[in-house]
Amino acid sequence: MNRHLPFVLGCAALALGANAHAQQAPAIDLAGAQARADATVKQMTGDEKVILTHGMMPLPFLPGTKVPEGAVPGAGYVPGIARLGVPALTETDASLGVAWVGGLRKDGATALPSGLAQAASWNPGLLYRGGAIIGAEARAKGFNVLLAGGVNLMRDPRNGRTFEYLAEDPLLSGDLVGAAIAGIQSNHIISTIKHFALNGQETGRKYVDVKIAEGAARESDLLAFQIGIEKGQPGAVMCAYNRIGGAQACASDWALNKVLKGAWGYKGFVMSDWGAVPGVEAAINGLDQQSGEQLDKGIYFADTLKAKAAGDKAWAARLDDMNRRVLTAIYAAGVDKNPARPGGQIDFAAHAQVAEEVARQGIVLLKNNGALPLAKTAKTIAVIGGYADSGVLAGSGSSLVMGEGGPAATRSLGGDGPFAALMQQSYHRSSPLKAIQASAPQATITFRDGRYIADAVEKARQAQVAIVFATEWRTEGADQPDLSLPDGQDALIAAVAAANPNTIVVLETGGPVLMPWLDKVAGVVEAWYPGARGGEAIASVLFGDTNPGGRLPVTFPASLDQLPRPKLDGSDWVEPNFGGDPAPGKDQLHSDYDIEGSDVGYRWFARKGLKPLFPFGYGLSYTSFAARDLKVSGLSASFTLANTGQRAGDDVGQVYLVRRNGAPLQRLVGFKRLSLAAGASQSASVTFDPRLLADWKDGRWTMPAGEYGFALGRNAAELGPVVTIKLPARAWKD
Ligand code: BGC
Repeated sequence: MNRHLPFVLGCAALALGANAHAQQAPAIDLAGAQARADATVKQMTGDEKVILTHGMMPLPFLPGTKVPEGAVPGAGYVPGIARLGVPALTETDASLGVAWVGGLRKDGATALPSGLAQAASWNPGLLYRGGAIIGAEARAKGFNVLLAGGVNLMRDPRNGRTFEYLAEDPLLSGDLVGAAIAGIQSNHIISTIKHFALNGQETGRKYVDVKIAEGAARESDLLAFQIGIEKGQPGAVMCAYNRIGGAQACASDWALNKVLKGAWGYKGFVMSDWGAVPGVEAAINGLDQQSGEQLDKGIYFADTLKAKAAGDKAWAARLDDMNRRVLTAIYAAGVDKNPARPGGQIDFAAHAQVAEEVARQGIVLLKNNGALPLAKTAKTIAVIGGYADSGVLAGSGSSLVMGEGGPAATRSLGGDGPFAALMQQSYHRSSPLKAIQASAPQATITFRDGRYIADAVEKARQAQVAIVFATEWRTEGADQPDLSLPDGQDALIAAVAAANPNTIVVLETGGPVLMPWLDKVAGVVEAWYPGARGGEAIASVLFGDTNPGGRLPVTFPASLDQLPRPKLDGSDWVEPNFGGDPAPGKDQLHSDYDIEGSDVGYRWFARKGLKPLFPFGYGLSYTSFAARDLKVSGLSASFTLANTGQRAGDDVGQVYLVRRNGAPLQRLVGFKRLSLAAGASQSASVTFDPRLLADWKDGRWTMPAGEYGFALGRNAAELGPVVTIKLPARAWKD
């Protein structure tokens, strides 16, 4: 309970994220930053007050765009105020590293594995390290703002941006994004957290209007942001494209003023998503900075805003607050005192090792009938499909990162417009085929790209082991029509499995997929989009150099019928157009999140008694584990994990709240990943965030008095004995 005293005592003003227990966050002198910001605002002229309030996209390929001097080509540029020592903001995407911008950046950057891969590690310390390296690269390339921190919950597994985000659970998402942000900001640069909020689909993303009860939002998507902000203390929050209750998220008084800045006491600034600003009124509703202004219908946060402030005291005060917030973020991160300049040194070899470690820890073993790990002495291996000879798949859109030399392979999907290159399917230069050959040097390895099934089957039949690489590509700007593997890959896998009983499927997917062939294959490895060294990480798991310890951060449904919305809203009439504007007269799209409310993902499956294909938290290992001795006292719990098998490996202890006063419910309330030698056991403790035990209603968090039952889970669907304790009633504001 103590961890929330700062809120209750009104000390929120002392942290960007209104919480004093930020994990791993670098010390931030917020009060000092605010005092400096106030002093600077006092010295600003009327003209200067509308410099930090808007920014452009410094992209030479955009029609009519001239890249200003001092800008670094990338997602955004906000000029500084030299007279006052205020640095320009140089902004780049995103959560997986310094973005490639459709080939504009030739210098290369380290691509972390996808957000889901990172989250499957269940390891905040690792996400901090990942954040630290991509923040260092951003800085070395002259950027002082990384548009990272994507933390929208997976409400629909078809969301095209699922790969950028982390999980379906607010605790896992919040803890992990907070750690990543803290790592990024350890480089004296600003990180965002995004996209605030309830940005659950790409279909009609600029106008889909989300309906959700306030309590349900607070207990789910908003809680992920709240925890992430507390732990990571990001300098900026990027508001989303969608509408919430009829208002654009970037002009939502409720989301920005009432919740973020009011209830949570957030002191940093809100920047818009690119092309998400409906007009100058967004400022009064809580937006502090208009980003990527060429994409909006007007530049509202320059002269229009200045004129408003000149004629109205409330607008003038708001404008001062907007400047104060941007400056607070700049000073708190030390952006002005530690200028980022292009041409900095990057230790790419060391960063590649971190990317590989993230991939290894995030790979999830979904099925193994004993065929894995593969023997390094295998004589014949058939590798099939997935461009495995060239590299590993990446997700596309603004977050796409590419190493030096660009993609190993691409597949153009047509389309035109300045952003078409961002929509291209691209593969990182990390060939699983080469890594497999390096792991089994004496093996004869054949490769077939899988376009011709009979030919692939022939090769599979001749080999001891067949490894099929299956890819499912996703991109920002479009959702998946369904969860099947495209391009006939299901048929390919089934045919190969029929020819070779030792068929292993390696999935490179941007989210959950269906597996109609699951019963027929010997093993399944979910490698996600595994990043710059994905090929090496995959081989290391296949041959047992890494004992897989990843656990699913999202539920894999058994069918679309199991979802709260079996049909994705708008999927029948909205054309994917990279998330652009609606066709004339076609901007009425609604999505009802009250169907599941705060029961997102596994909580929905538990509520409905549905059996998924693979549950949240699921993952196998080459050893075996026992989780035992759950003890709960007040808001903390301890348990023991034992490695009962023959190999060292990692397991993730997962504690769930499963019952409250006799009523079933399910919420992850604590987790810890431990590395255990064969035969070793270790105890661990976790502290519960009381919000996870509470409901949000009538403007406050409320815990009823009574019996709370907890269980250790191997995953959300395999729970151990219930331990029940009594807790007193409690109610509190944020
Ligand atoms: C995306 C953001 C990104 C921005 C700048 C938008 O289309 O939604 O995530 O940061 O572009 O590239």
